[in-house]
Amino acid sequence: MEKVPLSEFYMVYGPQALADPSTPEISAVEQLMNEFEYHEDQEGEFIKQYKEIAERSKNPLVKFLLDLIISDEEKHRAAIHAIVSTLEGDLTWTKQEDALQGFGELDEEKENKELLKVTADFIKHEKEGIKDYKKLIKSSKGYYYGVFVLLLQSIIRDSEKHVEILEFLRRKLREE
Ligand SMILES: [Fe+2]
Ligand SMILES: [Fe+2]
Repeated sequence: MEKVPLSEFYMVYGPQALADPSTPEISAVEQLMNEFEYHEDQEGEFIKQYKEIAERSKNPLVKFLLDLIISDEEKHRAAIHAIVSTLEGDLTWTKQEDALQGFGELDEEKENKELLKVTADFIKHEKEGIKDYKKLIKSSKGYYYGVFVLLLQSIIRDSEKHVEILEFLRRKLREE
C-alpha cells in the first residue's frame, strides 16, 4: 500500500508525534476517528430508515420531501466517510481511496487565477440568489400549505453553505 506523504502526516499529529508514536495526540486522533466512524454508521442507519418510510408512503408529496432529506443524508455520510478515511489513512500510514487529498498541492492552485476569479463570481451569484429567494418567500406565503416557503428556506440554507465552502476555498487560495 502507498504511504501517506510526510507533510500530510504532520498536519494531523504535529512533528513531535514522529519522535514518540505513543504520544497522547495519537490516541486523541484515534478517539476522534472512532467518533466519526460512529456517526458514519448513524448516517447510514438514518438513510436506511428514511428510505423505508419513503418507500412505504403512498403520498407523492411525502415521498418528495423525504427524498430531499435522503439526498442530504447521503451527502452527510459522504462527508463523514471522507473524514474517517483521511484519519484512518494517517493513523495506519496508508493511502485510503476516499481520503481527502491535495492539501500539499493547494499552494500550486494559487497560481490558478481563473479559479480564484470564478470562486468570487460564484459567491456573488449565491448571495444574489439568497436575496432573491428571500423575496420569493414573502410572495409565496400562503400557497400550498406553506410547502413553497419550506423549500425556499431549505434552498437558502444550502446556498449559505455554498457561500461558506466557496469562502473557505477563496481564503485558502489567497493565503500567503
Ligand atoms: Fe445527517
Ligand atoms: Fe448554490
